[in-house]
Amino acid sequence: MDPAAYKATVTAAFDRAAASYDQLGVEFFTPMGRRLVEHAAPREGHRVLDIGCGRGASLFPSAELVGPTGHVLGIDIAPAMVDAARAEAERQGAKNVEIRVLDGENPDLPARSFDLITGSYSVIFIPDAPSAMARYARLLTEHGRIAFTSPVFTDDTFPFLPPMFTELIPRSLLRNLPAEWQPEALQHRFNSWLGRVDDLEKTMRTAGFQDVVVVDEPVHVVVQSGEAWVDWSHTQGMRLLWQHLTAADSQQLRTRLITALDDLRDGDGPLFLDVPVRYVTATVAGR
Ligand SMILES: C[S@@+](CC[C@H](N)C(=O)[O-])C[C@H]1O[C@@H](n2cnc3c(N)ncnc32)[C@H](O)[C@@H]1O
Repeated sequence: MDPAAYKATVTAAFDRAAASYDQLGVEFFTPMGRRLVEHAAPREGHRVLDIGCGRGASLFPSAELVGPTGHVLGIDIAPAMVDAARAEAERQGAKNVEIRVLDGENPDLPARSFDLITGSYSVIFIPDAPSAMARYARLLTEHGRIAFTSPVFTDDTFPFLPPMFTELIPRSLLRNLPAEWQPEALQHRFNSWLGRVDDLEKTMRTAGFQDVVVVDEPVHVVVQSGEAWVDWSHTQGMRLLWQHLTAADSQQLRTRLITALDDLRDGDGPLFLDVPVRYVTATVAGR
C-alpha cells in the first residue's frame, strides 16, 4: 500500500461526504461519539485532542465537559469536514474549541500537551495505527488517557460494515476494488491489531499504555427504510466501497441491500439495527 495514495483516497471520500455526513437522520456517529466521551470522562479544565474529528461527534461532547477552562483541539485530514465542524462550533458559540486540517497519523503537536486523546471511528483509517498509538502516548501528560472506537471486527467481517452485510456483498462485486481496499487487505490492516482483544491490549501496551479496557456495546440505530440506510451509507466510510463500483454493480448492490434490510422491518415500520461498536480506553504508562 502507498500510504500517501491511500490517504488521498480517504480524504477525497470524506471531503465529498462532509456536507451530508451525519445529516440524514440516521443516528449512529452522534450517539457513538457521545458514548465514547462518557467512557473517556474528561474533566473540567482538561485539554483534549480529537483525532479524525469529522463534524464533531465526540469533539462537542468533550468541549461541554471540559468547560471554559478546558480546550478541545479537533484535527481531521479532510478540509470539508473541518469546515463543517468549524461552522458547528460557531453556531454553538463554543469558545473552547479549535479545529484544524492535520494528518492524525503523525500530528506535529507539542509533547505532553493533552490530558485526553479521543478518536471515534477514525484511527481505523490511519495506515499504521499501532505506530501512531506510540506517538499519541508521547502527546499525553502523566496519567493522560486515550479513548477510541472501532467496529467490532470478526474474521469474516467486511470492514466498515456490520457483520450481517458480509454475506450480502458478493465477491464478484468487489473485482474493481484496488488491492488496498480488498477485504483481505483491510482485514489484515485492521483485524491484525483490533480484531482480538489480546492483540489490541498487546498493541496498546507496546505503544506505552496500561489499564487497557475494551467494551463492546451496540449502537441502536433506527432507520426509516432500507433505502434510507443505503442512502446514508454513501455519506460514511462505506462510500469508499461504493465509489469503486461500476454503475451496474452499484445498482445491483443497492437493490440487494434494500431488499435484505426491508425484510427486517415489521411491515412499514422502521428498521432497527444493533451495530456493534468497540470502545477502547487506556492510560499512558508511568514514565
Ligand atoms: C467515520 S469518520 C468519523 C468522524 C467523527 N470522529 C465521528 O465520529 O463522526 C472518520 C474521519 O476520520 C478522518 N480521517 C481519516 N484519516 C485521517 C487521518 N490520517 N488523519 C486525520 N483524520 C483522518 C476522516 O476525514 C473522517 O472525518
